Amino acid sequence: MRAEKPCLGCGICSRIRYELMTSYSFPPEFIADLRSRVDIVSLVSDYVALTKAGVNYKGLCPFHGEKTPSFTVHEGKGIFHCFGCGVGGDAISFLKRIENLSYPETLVRLATRAGIDISPYERRRGSLKEQERARSERENLTNAAACAQNFFGRLLKENLSGRVGAYLKKRGISPAAAEKFGLGFAPEAWSALKDEFRRQNIPEAVAVAAGLLVRKEGTNRTYDRFRDRLMFPIRDVSGTVIGFGGRSLGDAEPKYLNSPESVVFNKRRLLYDLHHARPAIAKSGFAFLVEGYMDALALYLRGIDNVVATLGTALSAENVAAVKRYTRKVAVFFDNDKAGRAAAFRSLPLFMAVGIMPDIVLLPEGVKDPDQLASGLDDTGLREALTRQVPLFDLFLQEKGSAQIAYSDRLQFLRQVIEMITRLPDEPLRGMALRATAESLHLAEEIVLDEYRRLRDKPRFRSENRPQNEAAGAAAGTPGAAVQTAAASPDEMVLATFLLYQDLLDEFGDDYQTLVESRNCERLFHKLRHWRSATGNGDFLQQLAGDGEDDSLAVLYARLLHLPAPAEDLTVARKLVSDCFTSLRKRRGNAASRDLDRALTMCQDEEQMFALLRQKMELKKRLLAS
Ligand code: GTP
Ligand code: MN
Repeated sequence: MRAEKPCLGCGICSRIRYELMTSYSFPPEFIADLRSRVDIVSLVSDYVALTKAGVNYKGLCPFHGEKTPSFTVHEGKGIFHCFGCGVGGDAISFLKRIENLSYPETLVRLATRAGIDISPYERRRGSLKEQERARSERENLTNAAACAQNFFGRLLKENLSGRVGAYLKKRGISPAAAEKFGLGFAPEAWSALKDEFRRQNIPEAVAVAAGLLVRKEGTNRTYDRFRDRLMFPIRDVSGTVIGFGGRSLGDAEPKYLNSPESVVFNKRRLLYDLHHARPAIAKSGFAFLVEGYMDALALYLRGIDNVVATLGTALSAENVAAVKRYTRKVAVFFDNDKAGRAAAFRSLPLFMAVGIMPDIVLLPEGVKDPDQLASGLDDTGLREALTRQVPLFDLFLQEKGSAQIAYSDRLQFLRQVIEMITRLPDEPLRGMALRATAESLHLAEEIVLDEYRRLRDKPRFRSENRPQNEAAGAAAGTPGAAVQTAAASPDEMVLATFLLYQDLLDEFGDDYQTLVESRNCERLFHKLRHWRSATGNGDFLQQLAGDGEDDSLAVLYARLLHLPAPAEDLTVARKLVSDCFTSLRKRRGNAASRDLDRALTMCQDEEQMFALLRQKMELKKRLLAS
C-alpha cells in the first residue's frame, strides 16, 4: 500500500515515510480546515458500503468482522463510530487506521484527496527555523487583527454620541447588539490605528502584511487602511479574527472595504459568521445564505442565527463544501434585484454538484434585501416572510425557461438544465429534477429522460445542437475517429475536465495558466475562460469556428470532447486536476533539473558550484514532496 520510492537524497535507501513526516508542517488551522473540507461519507465509502439510516449512514465495520452493520457514520458531525468494537473518530483517524498511516501521511493523503494545496506547508531547508517562521507569521497577523479589533471596539463605545452612533441608530443596531457582534469604529484619521500599533509594539511590517496599514507606494510612509468606517470583524471557523469589512458611514467609496488577502485571510474559503452560525445551523438543520454583512447582522438581531454570508464575492465551491458539512438544506436569501437573482442562479450548479437543491427566499415587492425585511416586520411577520421559499431550481426553470423564445434556444436551455442535473450525485434527486424540467417546459417526461440518458452517456458539455460526431468532425475537418487516438496529456485532461466542470475554472484556472505546457491548450483555455465570463451561454464551438483563425483550436476542442468523460463527479474531477498539476509540476521540475545539470557540467567556480548543488537538492526535495 505504502509508496516505497527511493530517497532522492542518497538514491539508495527507502525513506519516503521519513521524508513525508519531515517535509511538511501543518498548523492547527490547516487541520481544522482540512477536517471541514473532507466529506467523511465519501471517504468511508471508498472502503465500506454505506446505506443511509436516518441522519446517519451504516455499514459493516471494516475494523472487525461482523455480519450485521453496527458501523455508523454521522455526516453532519464528520465522525464515525462502531457500536460493535467501539472504534470511532473523525475522517483523519479513519484513514489513519484503515491505511495504517502515520499522522502526517494521513494529512497529506486527505489534503490531496480534497484538492488542497499543501505546498505552503512544505518545510524548506533549515526546516525548524522556517516552520517556526511560518507559524509566527500567522500568529503575528492574527495578533495584529485582534489588537485592531480591540481598538475599534473601544472607539465605537467612546464615540456613540458621534457620527458612528448616529449611523448605528439609523440602521437599528443598539450599542449592546453592536458589542455582541464585535462591531467597531475606525475613526477618520490617517494614523489612529498606526499609533495604537506603536503603543502595543506591533511592528509596522506586520500591520502592513495584515492589511491594516497601507504603505504608500515608493515610500516608507504608512497609514491606516480603514478610516471613518463601521468595522465588521471577520473570523475564521475557529472564531479567530483574521480580517475586517468596513462600511463607510457616508458616501465614501467603496461602500464596503475589505481586508486584502493574506496568509490567513482567503475570501474564497471564508463564510462570514460561520463560526457563530455553526451550532444554530446544526440545531435547526438548515442554513440561510445571504449576500451582505448587514443582512447577517439584521437577521441575527431578530434571533435568526443560522445565517452565513459570502464576503462580497461570488459563492465558491469551497463555500458550498463548507455549508454542506453542516446541512444539505440551504435557502439562498439574496437581494431582491436582477443582480441578486442572477447570483442565486449562478450558485445553483455549484450546489447541485454536491447534491444540494437549495431553496430561495422570495422577498415581497419593494423590499430590497434581508436587512430591510428584518427591520420592517414584527417577529411573526418576519417568521412568516421567511417561509416564503421556493426551490431555486424550479424558479430557474420558470424564469429562464420562459425567457427562451426560439426553438433552438429552448433546446439549448433544456440541455443546459440536463447538464446541471447530471451533476447531482443522487439518482432520486435527478429523477425529481428531470420531472420538474419536463413539467416546466411542457414536455413529455419520456422525452426529457431520453435526452438525459443520451447526454449522460456521452462526454458532457456540448452546447452545440448537432449530433456530436458530426459536429466535432465538421469542426475539425477530420473524420471523428482521427481525433480520438493518442492518450491525453495532463494539459488536455485538465482542459477536458474544465469543459465538463466549468466551476473548476475559478478554482484552478490560475494554476493551470502557470503550468500548462501546450500552446494550443493554453489558447483554448483562454478562450474558454473568456467565453464563460463574457456570455456563459451560447455556442462555444460556434465561436471557435467563427474566429477566422486556423482551425487547430476547433480540432483540439473536438478531440477533448471525444475523450472518455474524465471524472464522474466534482470530487473526482478536483482530484484529477490536482493529480495532473502534480505531474506537470514534476515535469517542469525535471526540466529544471536537467538545466541545472547542464550548468553544473559547465561550472568552473567552486562557490557557484555549491550554489547549484544546493539548488538541485532543494529541487529534488520539492519533487519528492509533490
Ligand atoms: P448596506 O448598504 O450597508 O445595507 O449593505 P448591503 O449589505 O445591502 O450591501 P450590498 O447588498 O450592496 O452588498 C452586499 C455585500 O457585498 C456587502 O456586505 C459586501 O460584502 C459586498 N460589497 C458591497 N459593496 C461593496 C464594495 O463597494 N466593495 C466591496 N469590496 N464589497 C462590497
Ligand atoms: Mn442592505
